[in-house]
Amino acid sequence: MSHPFASSDSRLQSDFAVRLIAWQREHGRHDLPWQNTRDPYRIWLSEIMLQQTQVSTVIPYYTRFLARFPDVAALAAAPLDDVMALWAGLGYYSRARNLHRCAQAVAEQHGGSFPTTVEALAELPGIGRSTAAAIASFAFGARAPILDGNVKRVLARVFGVEGFPGEKRIENAMWTLAESLFPMDGSDDDISAYTQGLMDLGATLCGRGRPECARCPFAADCVANVSGRQRELPAARPKKTVPTRRTWMLVLLDGASVLLEKRPPVGIWGGLWSLPEAADEAALAKRARAFGGSRAPEHLAPFTHTFTHFKLEIEPRVADVDAGHSSAHLEAGDSETSWVPLADIDAYGLPAPVRKLLDSLQGSLL
Ligand code: ADE
Repeated sequence: MSHPFASSDSRLQSDFAVRLIAWQREHGRHDLPWQNTRDPYRIWLSEIMLQQTQVSTVIPYYTRFLARFPDVAALAAAPLDDVMALWAGLGYYSRARNLHRCAQAVAEQHGGSFPTTVEALAELPGIGRSTAAAIASFAFGARAPILDGNVKRVLARVFGVEGFPGEKRIENAMWTLAESLFPMDGSDDDISAYTQGLMDLGATLCGRGRPECARCPFAADCVANVSGRQRELPAARPKKTVPTRRTWMLVLLDGASVLLEKRPPVGIWGGLWSLPEAADEAALAKRARAFGGSRAPEHLAPFTHTFTHFKLEIEPRVADVDAGHSSAHLEAGDSETSWVPLADIDAYGLPAPVRKLLDSLQGSLL
């Protein structure tokens, strides 16, 4: 198994924390409403609100929430409806339900005081390993690294960590890296500045879109900056590879009417009206003739339709019905078929790609 880190710069590893702390003290954020307190309730509340939501959105919610629920006992005693009402608009509502459950657990199982270790905090509802570390380090000076999405981005870029950070193997390697960088021997103030510095760098200079590398304290050493790979690091979630199937579809026209065929009741588009299909070119031509098609079907532009579990490549072919053929009495073997005026196809609930194909033809035919 290859080592996921490109950077073997041990000097950077050893002075990363010192440089980050210095940068945070000079350029980081110092006046957010949840800073300058060691009250675990306030810190916990902020970390939960900030889990999927940016600072500017959180601030007014945070202020209202604290005014209504000034401590964990008040929150634990409140009806869930009141909590949900104050959360309304922040999104990810399982956070609010877990917040309420967590407050009740603190009240009932911890005598009304938050536990002080990362391990005990991480047992509570809604608190994962990184959030537990943030709370424990800000409130209790715990020596524990955080690793949220922003921090993963910073580490992936600075240290050239390849691979998708959501993948377990990469995430585990990043936890090991985060542990190795952590300033174990710093003062409580240093620890807070370090943890906040990682958050600040990830939320400001080292954002996803346009990182401001010129202002970054790690610009000279950062693997992504030095190699111009800011857009590639961290790696995106790998695309699921899905199997591809191919089908030939017949657009058989009789003037401004098209032949539709009802699909078998099971399988894709089960029971829907659609176009007659075949598994290859020759089979399609044969079906076209059986339906009274007058000439070799003409090619239309192929297109792809993506289902959850596979892709369908559609090869459309168009043919006209022989003028001498009475389409009203067409026999279509076992299947149920119907001639439908193109203007009426909306009433047939066609599959989306079939509808798209016929819509695109309708313009040129009518
Ligand atoms: N995102 C997560 N935690 C944060 C914090 N304490 N300050 C700013 N942004 C954050």
